[in-house]
Amino acid sequence: MMDFPTQAAQRIDTLRKAIREHQYLYYVLDSPAVSDAEFDALLRELQRLEAAYPSLASPESPTQRVGGEPHEQFAKVRHPVPLLSLGNAFNLDELREWRTRLYRQLGEDEAARLAYVVEPKIDGLSIILHYQDGSFSLGATRGNGEVGENVTANLRTIPQVPLRLPANPHCSSPVASGLLVRGEIYVTRKDFEEFNQKQEAQGRQVYANPRNFAAGSLRQLDPSVSAERPLQLWVFQLIRASADGGVPPSHQAHLDYLRELGFPVSDYVRRFTDDQFDDLLAFVQGMDQTRHELPYAVDGLVIKVDSTDSQAQLGYTGKEPRWAIALKYEGEKAITRLQAIEVFVGRSGTVTPRATLTPVNIGGVVVEHATLHNFDYVQALDLRIGDAVLVTRAGDVIPRVLQALPDQRTGQEQVWSRPTACPRCSTPLKQEEGEVAFKCLNRSCPGQLTRAVEHFVSRTALDIHSFGTKQAALFVESGQICRLSDVFALPWDDIGKLKGYGDKRIAGLQAGLRAAKERHPSRLLTALGIPFVGSQVAELIVDSFPNLLALAHATTESLADIDGVGKEIAEAVVSFFADPLNRQDLHRLHLAGLAVGESQLPPEPSEAKPDLQGQVFVITGKLEHHTRDQASALIKLRGGKVTGSVSRKTDFLLAGEAAGSKLQKARDLGIKVLNEEEFVQMLS
Ligand code: IVH
Repeated sequence: MMDFPTQAAQRIDTLRKAIREHQYLYYVLDSPAVSDAEFDALLRELQRLEAAYPSLASPESPTQRVGGEPHEQFAKVRHPVPLLSLGNAFNLDELREWRTRLYRQLGEDEAARLAYVVEPKIDGLSIILHYQDGSFSLGATRGNGEVGENVTANLRTIPQVPLRLPANPHCSSPVASGLLVRGEIYVTRKDFEEFNQKQEAQGRQVYANPRNFAAGSLRQLDPSVSAERPLQLWVFQLIRASADGGVPPSHQAHLDYLRELGFPVSDYVRRFTDDQFDDLLAFVQGMDQTRHELPYAVDGLVIKVDSTDSQAQLGYTGKEPRWAIALKYEGEKAITRLQAIEVFVGRSGTVTPRATLTPVNIGGVVVEHATLHNFDYVQALDLRIGDAVLVTRAGDVIPRVLQALPDQRTGQEQVWSRPTACPRCSTPLKQEEGEVAFKCLNRSCPGQLTRAVEHFVSRTALDIHSFGTKQAALFVESGQICRLSDVFALPWDDIGKLKGYGDKRIAGLQAGLRAAKERHPSRLLTALGIPFVGSQVAELIVDSFPNLLALAHATTESLADIDGVGKEIAEAVVSFFADPLNRQDLHRLHLAGLAVGESQLPPEPSEAKPDLQGQVFVITGKLEHHTRDQASALIKLRGGKVTGSVSRKTDFLLAGEAAGSKLQKARDLGIKVLNEEEFVQMLS
């Protein structure tokens, strides 16, 4: 006869399997085999048994979906591979251009053998799921693509997230081990509306759109709150299959495999060969209508190259794979009034017009400004101040003015003409050959500098706390920042005289600056604001060079050799560092103590001014911002010499804290003693 615990274990196992199966039928296939009451009875029986036999409890049990302890909430998770985003196409022509690029990259023969998979782009929250030995082990939000938040406990509460995977159908291995899957957490339109109605009736928070709802609901500190939200999952990418493999090398096969493992995959996935590209375009057009019949919000389609070998060959640029593209649908539209056209100077001097609108709600977001792209666009639309305008907003895309409505003109509207000079520094604007953009070419334009500083201190760059757009504008305006490196050389006495800058605020800024010195060199490279060099490209580049000072001397070829860095990016980096002002800035930042790389190697001596030629230095004591090796390298770089002991031949003693006998000897011999600050000044 069997003992009770063994019987209980068997029953628990049977119940778990049955509940999982029913959940799959209900949530994934949408065809339940039992009534809700029958299902609840099974779940309750399982809960009772697990309570009676705690040793048989398991985090993978379906009972755990009701929300466990929030013990691992929101710890940061570094993703095992960067989670890329997608480039956009806004119309069929841009989609055709994407295909032309594939032809160029792969060559005619190979490209003609391609197939494409088209799937909906669901508007929700991007996540990654990890499975270890067939069990759901970790789930995280995409975050910035490199680091996300650990939302495992909350994801466990979503019935469609499989907690345990069945046997791998492609090989003998008992389970699909070591699996990484990407997907989207979303909510149906109906559930969203019902939820908001309920909230509103209770005078509680309502969400602006389904995407905010998904994000807000998954990122609840208490998983039992997430558990009550009608969140759903669908998956769209197998990032890594089990080490034992066996899954065919195509995206379509990956999706089939994921479906077999119990993951929800969209039913609207279609595959087209390259010679069926016209059919693909027709399908894409048809989906523009079909999407309104879908129960969830779709903000576009994603078109992917099917063969994973071709995907690998095509690679990616920065954050975007070349092998996939999102075709964005036109977003929701609204009519409002154009109150003014403001003109802004960007980081690189490009001057762009922006519409100020009478605030209007578009798809749950109040829009007050919209991009007008460039002056040609304003002219083409014949926009007049006071016009009624049609404005659109699609998902995360910046609102755009689509057209003016001339029928509604009263005659009071004013014609607008583009400025001929920079709105910030009055330098005449120039248009480069073959370009639409007008630029302010004044390198010290305060408008450009303000933008550059805003970027420099921003979260993706050096993330300097207490330093935002306000401070950037103020310090540039009042002349305390004339170049980027001045951010780390602020004259505190002068700042103390500015209104609102008391001791406490200054201490906050100083702490923010100190912390920023510790950031990874890739953050500093991002902060410099080189065109096309965002955080991911910066990481790729920094990984390939010993330090940023060496990077400043890199050739286009060596940069373009890095996987993920194209010729355009390489040229931008080289041309940035070809400018002596930029090189000097990097040097000053280095001297201010910012991390420029692991080994802190100086650039080749030939590139630096040999202004310390023949001078002999001795270094003693503890320096605050440099290691001795760094200081020594900087001296040698300028042609100086560093020796170990003080003698009559010594020209300078660089003395840090707790300098001892060497300092005394130098004083006795009348040798010039420098503290670190004086040393830095001497070099700059
Ligand atoms: S593929 C490397 N496919 O859209 C390929 N993304 O704009 C990465 N998304 O963060 C993305 N539906 O969260 C892909 N069918 C789909 C998608 C999809 C929604 C989201 C995804 C990503 C964002 C990119």
